[in-house]
Amino acid sequence: MGTSKARIGILTSGGDCPGLNAVIRGAVKSAARLDADVVGFRRGYEGLVDPVTYVALDTTNTSGIISRGGTILGSTNKGRFAARSGIDERLELDPQLLRDVQRTMDQLGIMGLICIGGDGSLSVAQQFHECGIPVVGVPKTIDNDLSATAFSFGFDSAVACATDAMDRLHTTAESHERIMVLEVMGRHTGWIALQAGIAGAASVILIPEIPWTWENVCQKILERDNAGKRFSLIVVAEGAELPGGGLVTTPAGSVVGQVRLGGIGHVVARQLHERLKRETRVVVLGHLQRGGPPTNFDRALATQFGAHAVRLVLQGQFGQMVAYHPPDVNNVPIHDAVNKISRVSPDSSAVVAARTLGVSFGQFPPGESPLLRSLVDESSSQSTDHIAPPETSDHYDDAVDPS
Ligand code: F6P
Repeated sequence: MGTSKARIGILTSGGDCPGLNAVIRGAVKSAARLDADVVGFRRGYEGLVDPVTYVALDTTNTSGIISRGGTILGSTNKGRFAARSGIDERLELDPQLLRDVQRTMDQLGIMGLICIGGDGSLSVAQQFHECGIPVVGVPKTIDNDLSATAFSFGFDSAVACATDAMDRLHTTAESHERIMVLEVMGRHTGWIALQAGIAGAASVILIPEIPWTWENVCQKILERDNAGKRFSLIVVAEGAELPGGGLVTTPAGSVVGQVRLGGIGHVVARQLHERLKRETRVVVLGHLQRGGPPTNFDRALATQFGAHAVRLVLQGQFGQMVAYHPPDVNNVPIHDAVNKISRVSPDSSAVVAARTLGVSFGQFPPGESPLLRSLVDESSSQSTDHIAPPETSDHYDDAVDPS
């Protein structure tokens, strides 16, 4: 690939999300206008070394992909470049691997690498930067858990999917006077649950950031019953901690050192059925939230991210991550974004507004019950044991023994 033009590398890493292709297209189109070439590495960081696998990208082979979900380059959240263990712990990459990446960059004449990824993938980019490999980060995640950017693309699309599910559950819940539980993704944060819960008119929203009790969730449902609303919708984030402590996890396919969350919806549905003797159904939305076309917001944001990342590379501003600070797209050190995850504040205006509307977070208003408060504090300070989900069923009703 001998050429005198500037050459930029690009890759997509970690779990996929809607908008990755829009970033790639935005980068390729703007690079073309700034007289630079782009090569795309396949399967995330894996394509950088042994075997090096890449494809030359141009305005022809990236045409028409702005609306396509997934990533034309492929991605993985496993393999040799895992740099996260648990929520905040960083794993050091093998120094030989870093030297191999540098060699690939030199051999292909790549002046800067655009790494599109979430928390774990950007931790890798940060390590590249620390050892002198020229990188620029682009934040991607449906979870919206990256600090230093107001939004990552993919989040709006995931919320749209979850809200659509809520709308559908609403009509059937009302018709049958049932309790519906919707489990959404978000890893250790409740952004998706909170936004979809508000937009989809949930009665109860359960998130990792707010400790909750079974009694308070039941209380809300009973209040609605008394008001003549004999159906309720509950959104629960996959990473919400159970009242007695512990996360619900599933063993299959865990990424190095990280738990794979999932199954809490079934635990909630079963408990509510047992406590209230009411018909309860559960939907685990899962990877539907990650698939399909990006929303218009995510397309526009992702396209701007791609264009801005190319400008940063050509200006030699390495170690920076593109960020959205409404109304502008600008940049921050990658380090600032991966330092700590962004979590929902229980005092945020969104939570306060939801509470004002009567949405329950399964928590009593602080100060209302000191006894309950101390019980909640006690249970939330317990270690986060991992609990396997019960044998699953999508329905818990009187005709079926859920045990
Ligand atoms: O980080 C994105 C995310 O979709 C999380 O919300 C979820 O916990 C996880 O990835 C699922 O990962 P996998 O694709 O490995 O099942």
